[in-house]
Amino acid sequence: MNKDFIAENLTAENDALVFGGANVSALAQKYGTPLYLMDEDRIRARCKEYLTALQAEFGKSCKILYASKACSFKQIYRIIKEEGLGADVVSCGEIYTCKAAGFDLGNAFFHSNNKTDEDIAYAIEAGIGYFVIDGEEELLAISRIAKEKGVTQKVLLRITPGIDPHTYAAVATGKVDSKFGCPIETGKAEAVIKLALSTPSVTLVGLHCHVGSQVFEPDVYLQTVQIMTAFMAQMYQKYAYVTEILDLGGGFGVRYTASDPALKIAENVRIVARAVKEECAALGLSLPTLCLEPGRSIVADSGITVYTVGAVKKIEGYKNYVSVDGGMTDNPRFALYGSSYTVLPVNNLSAPRDMVCSVVGRCCESGDILQENVPLPADVKRGDKICVLTTGAYNYSMASNYNRLPRPPVVMVKGGTDYPAVKRETLQDLAKNDL
Ligand code: LLP
Repeated sequence: MNKDFIAENLTAENDALVFGGANVSALAQKYGTPLYLMDEDRIRARCKEYLTALQAEFGKSCKILYASKACSFKQIYRIIKEEGLGADVVSCGEIYTCKAAGFDLGNAFFHSNNKTDEDIAYAIEAGIGYFVIDGEEELLAISRIAKEKGVTQKVLLRITPGIDPHTYAAVATGKVDSKFGCPIETGKAEAVIKLALSTPSVTLVGLHCHVGSQVFEPDVYLQTVQIMTAFMAQMYQKYAYVTEILDLGGGFGVRYTASDPALKIAENVRIVARAVKEECAALGLSLPTLCLEPGRSIVADSGITVYTVGAVKKIEGYKNYVSVDGGMTDNPRFALYGSSYTVLPVNNLSAPRDMVCSVVGRCCESGDILQENVPLPADVKRGDKICVLTTGAYNYSMASNYNRLPRPPVVMVKGGTDYPAVKRETLQDLAKNDL
């Protein structure tokens, strides 16, 4: 097998790349490039893997919430709804999309460290199940708005357990100095719980934490479980507060290159779930409903992005550049975090890849790089198709219109067939709000 086929849904037929059973070159021909492809069967398989593993330990007292910031459009919400997952949403835009897809918002958790009054009112009116609050200011705002609307709103409090998840800075969120949540260490978490227990029009149903993203070490989660359950026990002793829901966030790592480990989702879910059961038993706590919020690991390797090569520039003695018809506008992750990716030709897969180059985008900016040190065939030329693997998470959802470039369409692949899920933006779309 080709060592660059880092996910099981990648194969070759007649030396051409096949993704989720569909010929990538034919799809590029049909829909044009740049093009996001997503494999519905694989997304469903990931959802099932998470849910089955967690239910095996917690029965019905659990939820897998898809962290839709990883990739949000209507068809995704339809798929996760059909798979029995809940949703983590972070904005009115995600709530709107979720609702438009027919998703039951009672099964959605609304995150964000700074929800405006308008966000809060919109979410309550939309029938959001749970707010994950970031602190007392938000608690009081929700209480005020819920009261005006004559409802009692269920909330969870986001806790910062004080953990370094050993990942890149932009996604390390469990440390005490994080912009998210309330630290246990400073006494803030306890103070907000105390306040919540006497605040009208809100019910504090549980605690949440999310320590980081692209995490591979189970130890990080085991430490988190210890800290959270110890805190639950303290809150029970001091205030007779019973944590009904414990939400441990997302963060499981995925393979961007052959050197990344292939994290076994079911096994890791089992480890985390069993740790919660053991710690609760040891501390004499009743078992909470356990929630996990995976985003990246549900969709990342269910996506690839296909490009057409344009200018190829070989600066003798220095560097080779292969430019494509997309770039940081459809995938800003190298520009933002220096993220690694695997880049492959779409055709002639067995041709020697004997030229090392930087694959760059078409934006007027030197930082518009998709990946450095990419081996491609030395005769790669204008018109050839290449693709970047593992782009299903945080690519479409982080895409921009920088340089007024239209965002690519998303096409879903299912059992070897295909259907469009998001249309390609047009030039008219780009100027439609201009007055
Ligand atoms: N829950 C909460 C509260 C989160 O903040 C996140 C991610 C997740 C769940 C899902 O984490 P995941 O399973 O996807 O790792 N733009 C960055 C990722 C930011 C992640 C933000 N929060 C990137 O492209 O790497």
